[in-house]
Amino acid sequence: MATEPETLEALKERGLESVLNLARQLGPEPEADLLRDLSQLDWGALDAQKSALALEPSPPTGSVAPPPLTPPSNRPGNEEAANAGWAAIQNGRLAIATVAGGQASRLGCSGPKGAFSIGPVAETTLFEILAGQIRRLGELANREIAWVIQTGPENHQETKSFFDRNNWFGLNPEKVYLACQGTLPALSPSGQLLLASPNRLLRSPDGHGGFYKALKNAGLFQTLKEQGADILFYCQIDNPLVRMGDPAFLGHHLLAQAKMSVKVVEKTEPGEKVGLIAVRNDQTCCLEYSDLSSDFQNQRDPDGALSYRAGNIAVHAFDLDFAQEMAEARLPLHPARKAVSALNAAGEKVETEAVKFETFVFDALPLAENVIVQMCDRDEEFAPVKNADGEDSPTSCKEALNLRAHKWLSQACPDIAIPSTQAIELAPGLSISSQDLASRAEGIRINPSGLVTLCQTDG
Ligand code: UD1
Repeated sequence: MATEPETLEALKERGLESVLNLARQLGPEPEADLLRDLSQLDWGALDAQKSALALEPSPPTGSVAPPPLTPPSNRPGNEEAANAGWAAIQNGRLAIATVAGGQASRLGCSGPKGAFSIGPVAETTLFEILAGQIRRLGELANREIAWVIQTGPENHQETKSFFDRNNWFGLNPEKVYLACQGTLPALSPSGQLLLASPNRLLRSPDGHGGFYKALKNAGLFQTLKEQGADILFYCQIDNPLVRMGDPAFLGHHLLAQAKMSVKVVEKTEPGEKVGLIAVRNDQTCCLEYSDLSSDFQNQRDPDGALSYRAGNIAVHAFDLDFAQEMAEARLPLHPARKAVSALNAAGEKVETEAVKFETFVFDALPLAENVIVQMCDRDEEFAPVKNADGEDSPTSCKEALNLRAHKWLSQACPDIAIPSTQAIELAPGLSISSQDLASRAEGIRINPSGLVTLCQTDG
């Protein structure tokens, strides 16, 4: 935190002193408050924001190639990796992290996105489904697995209350860590600081790339390491099909001594709105669909498959030391022009255009060595809920959960006949895979509602 003279000097150097005008008119107290807020700014980061102001989406430069792909975890040939991954989990080396700090504005829900009901039968929430996966993984590995949830400034408290009200979904609350992401000041298009009130800057969350710093600021790298963890499995809150802590994925990552790895799905069509994992100038990276030309996206191999088909599902494995290093790295800033409500020079709240800045977790990929890019089957592992309707909506996500439950159940219990028209849902924590479900086949029962549970809990 800078002193008052240092803050004034930093503002002056950058031609930003006018941000103090309003507070000064109101008296010494508002001015002191605003200076205190300003003193917490990272001036280097602010300079980077000012340089990034005018960045527009642009096609990737340099040599770009598709990445080498590791086959999905459920194919033969993954046994060595799966064994390595299981051994690591059983030895307490794994922690899990989920980013849930976004505002879910596209989905149109208020409150934490994780509290959104998505179970096709029992209206189970996203948080409960993911918590169930961690619980079951822990049961199978015979250990409690730490879970870090990145929250945002606007949903941190609500997220905590939601977990409290729901008894932490059967997890040990001491092993669930909520880490609130940081913010970055929004700027006017000409690079001036904006005010939310006379004594407070207008800020917005720093994007999911704020995850690395959020863990650092919450002291979690140290906490996890003290518990013996050195690998982090990372996912987003919006994908209830995620295969939490997939042992084969973790195993491939470990055997390759990768610093960071990523799972992908085959893109359904050239313009699908997912990031594209590619190799640019010999480094693995994620290219955002908005930066890619349609000619690039439409390139095909001689067999007709899309040449660039590795769609990012935002599931990663990290070497924990590498994630910690990323908390000190200056990841690229992604500016986005948005309408905001801010104070004008007369102190009135007005709708105005501003530039908000985010960083992205996957921008660490080019800095990582030996990245593994593993394919997965969409119907098994990826059905995000992002929009209120249409693609990636609650309707499409519930259908994907229902279809996967039917598939797993018919594989695990071929004798149980359920009409394909009946919606079913696997109770949270029932199984992490079809094989796991098969191992519990004896005790399975289907409630009239369609909820698949165990007759009795395992003793
Ligand atoms: C993201 C990826 C895209 C990938 C897709 C897979 C970006 C820019 N792109 O798209 O490459 O193919 O997911 O589903 O991320 N979040 C925070 N804090 C924030 C912003 C977001 O924690 O400040 C969390 C959200 O809660 C959510 C996740 O990050 O869990 C993804 O954010 P979202 O904005 O929905 O990403 P997409 O644009 O859908």
